[in-house]
Amino acid sequence: HHLLVEATLTEFVPGVYIDSMGYAFTLLVLKYLGICHVASYVHYPAISTDMLSVVRERNPRFNNADYISNNLFLSAVKFVYYYLLELLYGLAGSCSDVVIVNSSWTLNHILTLWRATKRTCLVYPPSDTHAFLQLPLDEDSDRKCHSIASIGQFRPEKDHRLQIRAFPEDAAEEGDGAGRKGVDEVGELKRELGEATVGLHTMWNEHFGIGVVECMATGTVILAHRSGGPRLDIVVPYEGGQTGFLAEDEDGYADAIERILALSPSARLEIRRHARLSVTRFSDQECEACFLATMEPLIWTLAR
Ligand SMILES: *[C@@H]1O[C@H](CO)[C@@H](O)[C@H](O)[C@H]1NC(C)=O
Repeated sequence: HHLLVEATLTEFVPGVYIDSMGYAFTLLVLKYLGICHVASYVHYPAISTDMLSVVRERNPRFNNADYISNNLFLSAVKFVYYYLLELLYGLAGSCSDVVIVNSSWTLNHILTLWRATKRTCLVYPPSDTHAFLQLPLDEDSDRKCHSIASIGQFRPEKDHRLQIRAFPEDAAEEGDGAGRKGVDEVGELKRELGEATVGLHTMWNEHFGIGVVECMATGTVILAHRSGGPRLDIVVPYEGGQTGFLAEDEDGYADAIERILALSPSARLEIRRHARLSVTRFSDQECEACFLATMEPLIWTLAR
């Protein structure tokens, strides 16, 4: 941090300093020394608002070791430590003349921590969906069978188990099942997705969900977990139209899959069309325009 600040102070004094690396404390220094205007693009809060409550409730979860949650004194020390850290982080963050956050999840955390509601806005980073948008979007009425695709790494939190369990029994004729096929190349992925009727996502509380965006760009009917980014940012109505489905548990998923497969091809096409249109919210152009519009007032102060 100090190299960065030093460089800014001595070598090149900017008119506006934008931190997008999460070095919130550099904002504090530059602002209070009166060096320049400061702004931040926050991708992830350096301190989570959950930390304090975990320690306060002496909850032996997460990064709260047993010997701490069992000891009242150590819990108190840790609580004070986090409290001060949170206070400082809030102070540093609230120096920002403009705060941009990358998702609703981050927005919620940063609003609580930095309390700069009027200066904070949401600008999605660009997602490269170009390749996926190239695929034609037609009615899927000539499909001999429907397939369900799921994109993602094999990690426990992706909950592939739920995908297998949610698979409606009478829907699997050949027993080829879900989640079996490994796909390595982008081209192959594109082809698989292009042929899939349903795009499946099951991770709980994913901060965003680029895979969900890709499914929607390709033209599958997305079925995502009702939490995190998919619920807040991605699978939301667009221009009055439904863009996909959300579910929480095994039964919810199974029902949704059956409902999607039971829709008429034209009803599916309607949803797929809205979904594809809605992902333009995550395009390069959109990001550029929103970023500039947000920063503009700050840039104008330089001209004065
Ligand atoms: C925001 O940034 C975090 C941290 O890099 C990342 O996990 C999340 O997916 C990003 N959100 C979006 C909308 O790209």
